[in-house]
Amino acid sequence: MHTGGYDIGVVPGDGIGPELVGSAQEVLTAAAGDGVEVRFHVEDAGADTYRRTGTACSDETFDRLRSYDGILKGPVGLPGVRRPDGTEGGLLGGLLRGGLDTYVNERPISLLPGVDGPLRGERRIDHVIVRENTEGLYLARGLGVGNERAVVDQLLMTREGVERVVRYAFELARRRPGAPADGVHRVTCVDKANVLRSFAFFRRIFDEIAEEYPDVQTDHRYADAAGHDLVVDPEHFDVLVMENFLGDILSDVAAATVGGLGMCPGGNIGDAHAYFEPIHGSAPAIAGRDLANPVSQILAAAMLADHLGERPVGDRIRAAVRTGFARGDIVILPSGSPKDGTDAVTRAVIGALES
Ligand code: NAD
Ligand code: IPM
Ligand code: MN
Repeated sequence: MHTGGYDIGVVPGDGIGPELVGSAQEVLTAAAGDGVEVRFHVEDAGADTYRRTGTACSDETFDRLRSYDGILKGPVGLPGVRRPDGTEGGLLGGLLRGGLDTYVNERPISLLPGVDGPLRGERRIDHVIVRENTEGLYLARGLGVGNERAVVDQLLMTREGVERVVRYAFELARRRPGAPADGVHRVTCVDKANVLRSFAFFRRIFDEIAEEYPDVQTDHRYADAAGHDLVVDPEHFDVLVMENFLGDILSDVAAATVGGLGMCPGGNIGDAHAYFEPIHGSAPAIAGRDLANPVSQILAAAMLADHLGERPVGDRIRAAVRTGFARGDIVILPSGSPKDGTDAVTRAVIGALES
């Protein structure tokens, strides 16, 4: 056990961010107990910060975020806060994912027992979308060029960038129990190698790296068919690896199969830094109304604990969430909101931790 404790940067964010992050901080503190000291350092960043100061994250804030043992981030962004080029001004992804070189975006998609998903029948859904997080189409962030008649955003794949994320996916598959359908350790490469040269390059590198992992089955899907199969046959999947923009879209599609965006955490992970957040956004329409599902943020805190090397703390959090659902203390409505509100979910998880 780490006796010095941990300094965690906390970005409450915009919209539902502060209520979610408050919930996750309470759960993490309770799960850590007396054995692991967690010190939170709240940082100001996001769309409201941009509106007030003209920048979503100051250099000083960024330097402090880099210095922490880990970061718990709430969703940021407000659709009305725009830059002159028409894109949103309050987002942090470009700054943090690029700036901290968190080249993996690990998004576990799991249907928990007791959660009523929209798919028919008894489903066993448990896979991880590994989204490349620093290049692909998103490298064009802030760099698009154009005029009043045409605009271009370019997609870039580098050999180093593809190799490192693909390797991460294979290592992850080795540690997991395999696909729910057949227990096979499998990595699915998702691309559009039928149409675009950059994706053919991604697939070629995937196939090269796959040879280093003969114990893991490889699999290919074009991205359009992958969207279909994630809904129709999710049990087939174990780990999926894909380019940044594809991962953005397909992770929200997959989230719909396990009770909605509010069930899904994500880890932005690099060799030197990592931060953890829900996969969804700031849901401004439901902010401050006790309607947000905090499970995504609570499970992000569990991923943070794992990353710190405190896996028992992460396991305790995940077990408490499962117990909350199994006991019927947490119920998510088809709208994605918890039946008894955000705070009731926090109480149920903390109650399950203590029982
Ligand atoms: P969103 O994910 O905020 O919301 C999509 C839908 O899901 C809405 O109906 C919302 O009410 C619902 N929803 C999301 N999270 C929920 C939760 N925990 N519980 C219950 N319902 C939930 O996406 P959007 O509306 O497209 O974007 C809103 C803002 O968030 C934008 O500014 C966008 O750029 C930003 N955004 C930020 C992040 C991030 O910080 N990582 C991620 C995605 C979007
Ligand atoms: C996500 C979000 C971000 C993305 C936005 C807010 C920049 O949708 O984390 O999935 O597109 O990566
Ligand atoms: Mn997204």
